[in-house]
Amino acid sequence: MRSLMPPPDFPETVDSLWLDARLATLAGETPYGIIEKGAMAVDGGCIVWIGPCDRLPKDAETRARSVRRLENFWITPGLIDCHTHLVYAGNRAREFEMRLNGATYEEIARAGGGIISTVKAVRMASEMELFRQSASRLTAMQAEGVTAVEIKSGYGLNTSSELKMLRVARRLGREFPATVMATFLGAHALPPEYAGRPDAYIDLVVDEMIPAVAADGLATAVDAFCERIAFTPAQTERVFAAARQYGLAIKLHAEQLSDSKGAILAARSGALSADHLEHLKADGAAAMAQAGTVAVLLPGAYYFLKETRRPPVDLLRRKGVPLALSTDCNPGTSPTTSPLLMMNMACVNFGLTPAESLAGFTVHAARALGMQARWGTLEVGKQADFAVWDIAEPAELSYRMGGNPCRMTVKGGEPVNPSGCRF
Ligand code: NIG
Ligand code: FE
Repeated sequence: MRSLMPPPDFPETVDSLWLDARLATLAGETPYGIIEKGAMAVDGGCIVWIGPCDRLPKDAETRARSVRRLENFWITPGLIDCHTHLVYAGNRAREFEMRLNGATYEEIARAGGGIISTVKAVRMASEMELFRQSASRLTAMQAEGVTAVEIKSGYGLNTSSELKMLRVARRLGREFPATVMATFLGAHALPPEYAGRPDAYIDLVVDEMIPAVAADGLATAVDAFCERIAFTPAQTERVFAAARQYGLAIKLHAEQLSDSKGAILAARSGALSADHLEHLKADGAAAMAQAGTVAVLLPGAYYFLKETRRPPVDLLRRKGVPLALSTDCNPGTSPTTSPLLMMNMACVNFGLTPAESLAGFTVHAARALGMQARWGTLEVGKQADFAVWDIAEPAELSYRMGGNPCRMTVKGGEPVNPSGCRF
């Protein structure tokens, strides 16, 4: 762990200077990396100076094109939602009702509901309609401090619909002040037209879909659902081999419903992250630690499926595996756009500390996307993506159940919603 660096020289001119803030930098050796009475200077979309206000040069304000006084509000790094299925059509409220009447998630999936019911809605939706429905979810996330989001495909399950989803993700990133990183999840479920022929579907994924995704530069990573209701480790391995061939990073839905040994496979394949992990065992955690694979915990899915088996948080901590958190925003297992609610659930249900929860949505989430050099902490050289909160202390972000204390989301130094901004 590094200690907080002393403030660097203040540049001749800067685009903006943010004063009188309490900074949770998430850098350094203390849990939140706090700088009280802090200041931050931004230029060219990046943090160029950070430190206590009393270390600023006397003429700092005259060197800044704009000055904002934060009235002691807290600033954290922008939240990073590193595992979402945010692009989808329709909803699955009826299946929620069925589960409350006794059906299980797996039973619904095997009867052609579950992921496949969303596949039907996505295939039928126009690209415009898919964009419209997804945009409202992204807007809700941004209002809660999110500056970067990973979005998976996986509800198309044929080449044209998978590409449609990924184009929608790309358009969201172009039209909204949020960075979107798209992940191809063709191996999410077996589409009905391939019933009984999973290997033939994997042929389609590796021979047609991944080359098409790579040719259009539509994703930076590939994911799969390695599970008894989805794909076997051998099938998953074929998907990973194709990802490597096309220079795409690897992620995996692993050990969500059973111990399929997906995490070991992911780690040995150099995956950025293995996600869910409720059924992870010691061998999987050891493989992840050795490979530097991030554990992405998804407390929304655990809660919504009324799971009783928690991911082995103590084991992962002991092994030194970084713990990221994410909404898993999707219509079937985690219909939420709220990172703060996930932080609360991670504390209450998984036993994370509030500091671990915030790290899970910032510094470790950045690592789960391979973006730790640019995102995740407030440090010189990092992108000026941050959130301003009306809270008395950082633990309050995890403490609340609902409500939104985010007063401003800032992307590349620019307020996301300048008209609603009070500073
Ligand atoms: O992350 N586990 C697989 N995929 C999603 C659920 C998708 C769905 O049910 O629509 C998840 O939980
Ligand atoms: Fe997921």
